[in-house]
Amino acid sequence: MTVPTDLTPRRLRNVLGQFATGLTVITASTPAGPAGFTCQSFVSLSLEPPLVSFNPTRTSNTWPVLRHLGSFTVNVLSAELEHLSGQFGRSGTDKFAGVGYHLSPLGHPVLDNGLAWIDCELVQEYDGGDHTIVVAAVRSLQSTHDGEPLVFHRGRYVRLQPGAEGAVTAPPAVPEAQAAGAPSGAVA
Ligand SMILES: Cc1cc2nc3c(=O)[nH]c(=O)nc-3n(C[C@H](O)[C@H](O)[C@H](O)COP(=O)(O)O)c2cc1C
Repeated sequence: MTVPTDLTPRRLRNVLGQFATGLTVITASTPAGPAGFTCQSFVSLSLEPPLVSFNPTRTSNTWPVLRHLGSFTVNVLSAELEHLSGQFGRSGTDKFAGVGYHLSPLGHPVLDNGLAWIDCELVQEYDGGDHTIVVAAVRSLQSTHDGEPLVFHRGRYVRLQPGAEGAVTAPPAVPEAQAAGAPSGAVA
């Protein structure tokens, strides 16, 4: 079998797009008003200390503003917020038009009907080619909604198949109160 050797952006997108992710909108209250951008590359990184990571593109206009502030809020999108992924994914538009939100403890926008929010402070930023690698400390966080997550796969929004829960063996979800006291565990 011949394996294609080209590493064009198109082929990288096609193959790496097989990796399904959730979606977030990373927001902040800035002197010029609320700001934010859609971010697929969010991951939980460390439990002790509590750290998360994501990868802003070097062409982002919003990320340098958030970097300068040094803190921001990660909003985990629910399936019902699919439209916000597009709205916060384009430069030069009024991203907050028609968007309901309240402020997090760090003072940043928590979007209505998201699944969870995570208040973060920037710790470190590393080179990542045409993106950068952000490491951020979690200052507070909350699950806010039991809805379906927004899932991105092969460049499209997909729905979790109804009734498919439990088809794959996964570590059991730990109730928040129990997780708080647990000595260690999977990053859920
Ligand atoms: C589905 C989706 C996923 C995205 N994931 C990322 C990402 O992981 N990192 C990133 O920097 N931009 C990502 N973007 C693009 C940014 O949202 C976009 O570059 C940004 O909103 C542009 O606005 P700005 O110039 O105000 O930053 C994504 C966009 C969409 C629609």
